[in-house]
Amino acid sequence: MNKVLKAGVLTLAMTLLPLQFQMMAGDDVVVKHLGKDNVIFRDGNYVSNCIVHVTKPGNFLLMPVQEKSDDAKVDVLVNGKLDRTIYVRLAKNNVDYMMPLDLRPYEGKDVVLNIEMNQSRSSMRDSADDACWQQFAVVDELDTKNVEKYRPLFHHTPVYGWMNDPNGMFYKDGRWHLYYQWNPYGSKWQNMTWGHSSSTDLVNWETHPVAIEPNGLGSVFSGSCAIDHNNTAGFGKDAVIAMYTSAGLNQIQSMAVSTDNGETFEIYPGNPVLVTDTEARDPNMFYNPETGKWTLTLAHALNHEMLIFSSPDMKNWTLESAFGKGLGAQKGVWECPDLFELTVDGTGEKKWMLICNLNPGGLFGGSGTQYFIGDFDGKTFTPDTDADGNVITKWLDFGKDNYAGVSWSDAPDNRRTYIGWMSNWQYAAEVPTKQFRSANTLPREISLFRHTDGQIYASTLPSPEILSIRGKATQDLKGFNIGSKPRMIPLPKANDGVCEIVIDMDSRNNCDIVLELFNSKGDRTTMTYDPARHTFEVDRRHSGDTSFSVDFPAVTSAPTFEHDGKLSLRIFIDRSSIEVFDKTGKFAITTLVFPEEPYSTLAVSATKGTGRIGSLTVYPMNVEYK
Ligand code: FRU
Repeated sequence: MNKVLKAGVLTLAMTLLPLQFQMMAGDDVVVKHLGKDNVIFRDGNYVSNCIVHVTKPGNFLLMPVQEKSDDAKVDVLVNGKLDRTIYVRLAKNNVDYMMPLDLRPYEGKDVVLNIEMNQSRSSMRDSADDACWQQFAVVDELDTKNVEKYRPLFHHTPVYGWMNDPNGMFYKDGRWHLYYQWNPYGSKWQNMTWGHSSSTDLVNWETHPVAIEPNGLGSVFSGSCAIDHNNTAGFGKDAVIAMYTSAGLNQIQSMAVSTDNGETFEIYPGNPVLVTDTEARDPNMFYNPETGKWTLTLAHALNHEMLIFSSPDMKNWTLESAFGKGLGAQKGVWECPDLFELTVDGTGEKKWMLICNLNPGGLFGGSGTQYFIGDFDGKTFTPDTDADGNVITKWLDFGKDNYAGVSWSDAPDNRRTYIGWMSNWQYAAEVPTKQFRSANTLPREISLFRHTDGQIYASTLPSPEILSIRGKATQDLKGFNIGSKPRMIPLPKANDGVCEIVIDMDSRNNCDIVLELFNSKGDRTTMTYDPARHTFEVDRRHSGDTSFSVDFPAVTSAPTFEHDGKLSLRIFIDRSSIEVFDKTGKFAITTLVFPEEPYSTLAVSATKGTGRIGSLTVYPMNVEYK
């Protein structure tokens, strides 16, 4: 759910020129097509060159985008000086949607776009006919209402544009800050910046102005924030320090500083603060009171390992160790680490958890999140082993759609609150949304438990704040038997059926229990609890539109960690996602789905015998349809 911040520099919202449909032709810009026949041959490509002069005053220039087009290179000149270079898929044949360029910082100044666009050899037609030129428009306000069929209602999304990894999350003065990899100029990956949202309850999110933009050292890739309580870096007590990767020709680590609680950041002029010989990214740091130093974990991507550094002041970093070569899943680059200490549930035992995101090579293909449990002495991470001395590969989620997740720093009450990017690099850019692309997972609380196999595992549960949006139950069923004839349970009608289903199941140790979500179009997602194999499986092969990628149709399966044939679940449905949590947190499965219309019914049945449902409750979600 996104609320748009009305105060401050950004006044997106409310009124009435729907960004989605704003495609009027007009005289808001003057377009000059340059060059002989408007096409130049350069580096094996035909390139057209146009100058677009913004002639109407206003807050936003709407740029017509067609996703199938190549990126056009757009130099933004302000009063005759280059201000920034951005890449935009300017429309050639049809306009899919409009993306805004914020003109407010340039108020009263002259704005000119110098645009270079590739033309394929076969389209030697006059590039002046391209669809975009007629449709540039200047508007004062953007309507960012949630109108897309698949845009979630109680998960965080950017109000427009592409999003991937969550970045730099910290909690301060009652507010959860969430930054994210954001393309403000299109719904595919490009122009990486840190977008910014914040929330007081982890459910209602406000959009803030972009927090960090490229400054000449490269795109702004993933990273972390920490609050400098002791002023170790010299920017003042409680300054918020961001560490991120500047991705240009090389990947180097940069710092930015906020002295207004994360609203705006100044990029540190002494960047880079950390360089490595080969590709390394996504710095994640925390203050370690045991050593009196900062610890920073950095993904040594192509070497499939994490590097661990220390520093007294966040500016001078010393390499302490490397972890991971040859361990865990290795069939992809290692990215987005997170290292923290937790107490094992029900004991006083302290352990460290190291999250290592990996892409591809995830458990079910593409992106996935593995983690290691072990000890950390301030310099070196030593993983736990099994009785034979082997390090076991452990997974944080058993669906395909939870990637690049990391945790908030300084969360209250010693909480280790985590959020992931609810997608997978295999198809993230192709999912059937338009004006925005990608949501985050529900925020989750991580803790540790020791299983009967002797190993310590991570558990994840929805953050308790999510309970606050439960509406009055529309179904509240107690104690019934189930067999092969499904019992049909209607889902809420309000808000496209977004809901939470809470279910206690008893297989009586012999039957499989099948939960099927379906609609009148024949779309269905089928979930099966198999007590003999101790698995819970989610099958989305017939869940709706799966056509956009061969990697999307999938069956994924989690170990249930139980041995008595009883399983209790919380299942969250939010328009294009299904998240299943074991009620005790021992497994989570995060799955995107794109049904033609919302699922209307849950069918509950048993195969290979008779089972019992102890209780089944369906809660609609009390969220505003924004
Ligand atoms: C992970 C990732 C990071 C990188 C970012 C770029 O999804 O590849 O390693 O910093 O995305 O957007």
